[in-house]
Amino acid sequence: MIDMPPLEHLQLSALNADKVLRLVQITDCHLGEQSGERLVGMDTDSSLDHVLTLIQKEQVEAHLLLATGDLANHGSAEAYLRLKSKLASLGLPNAWLAGNHDGRDLMVNTVGSRLLPRTVRAGRWLIVMMDSAVPGQVGGELGEQELGYLAQALSAHADADYVIVCLHHQPIPIGCDWLDEQRLADSDKLLAILSQEPRLRAVLWGHVHQAFNGHDARLPNVQLLSAPSTCVQFAPNSEGFKLDQVAPGYRWLDLHPDGHIETAVSRLDGIDLAVDYASQGYK
Ligand SMILES: [Fe+2]
Repeated sequence: MIDMPPLEHLQLSALNADKVLRLVQITDCHLGEQSGERLVGMDTDSSLDHVLTLIQKEQVEAHLLLATGDLANHGSAEAYLRLKSKLASLGLPNAWLAGNHDGRDLMVNTVGSRLLPRTVRAGRWLIVMMDSAVPGQVGGELGEQELGYLAQALSAHADADYVIVCLHHQPIPIGCDWLDEQRLADSDKLLAILSQEPRLRAVLWGHVHQAFNGHDARLPNVQLLSAPSTCVQFAPNSEGFKLDQVAPGYRWLDLHPDGHIETAVSRLDGIDLAVDYASQGYK
């Protein structure tokens, strides 16, 4: 039996159970230590700023902002502080989790644990935020402790009607060989737990820098979703590293009181952001 500390919890209590909840998911911001640093040619602060301006324009009714990892490019405190200040302009509660370019402990020590809750309750919904980052590795794994957290969260919130699980790495292959090598190593264990959870409605992740919306036979009626990065995009269905020419963006989700989810992706339009399309790798 693993001895677990209490889970950091965010309660959105002003929402009544019959309201539609609007979530906004951003991911893979890859902010450098200094503003203006570039990832394969793109200024990641500038692209994030444009995406946040778009969110501000389109999402006047949103209730929660999810940030699903790789928020800094090199896990620097400066990047997390800049992100905190940029996101404060949206005036929304935040729930961040760590990706392989981050470190959860540094994030918590820099911006405070309130921005990195392990569980969120809003209306009829429970959202569980998981940490799939493994220090020194690109690929993801939850491990026994995280899987234990998940089981603990699901039983502690037995009164929630519907569940969403968020993590950084994809738990199923998305069709890009080079990215799927990095997918969650213990996804079978995760899916075994989730397949016993009839309240589950969606699993959300980042990491793949592209929009994905699929299903898995082990989780019937569950939407499996990724969001585009707020910076560079990777091409779907590519064997090796390949950039996509579509613009940065974000995902929104409407969680309905009957348990169904509407979702779509929105991308920048008409904004010219430099990208080094000749790049052979992701640095
Ligand atoms: Fe990333």
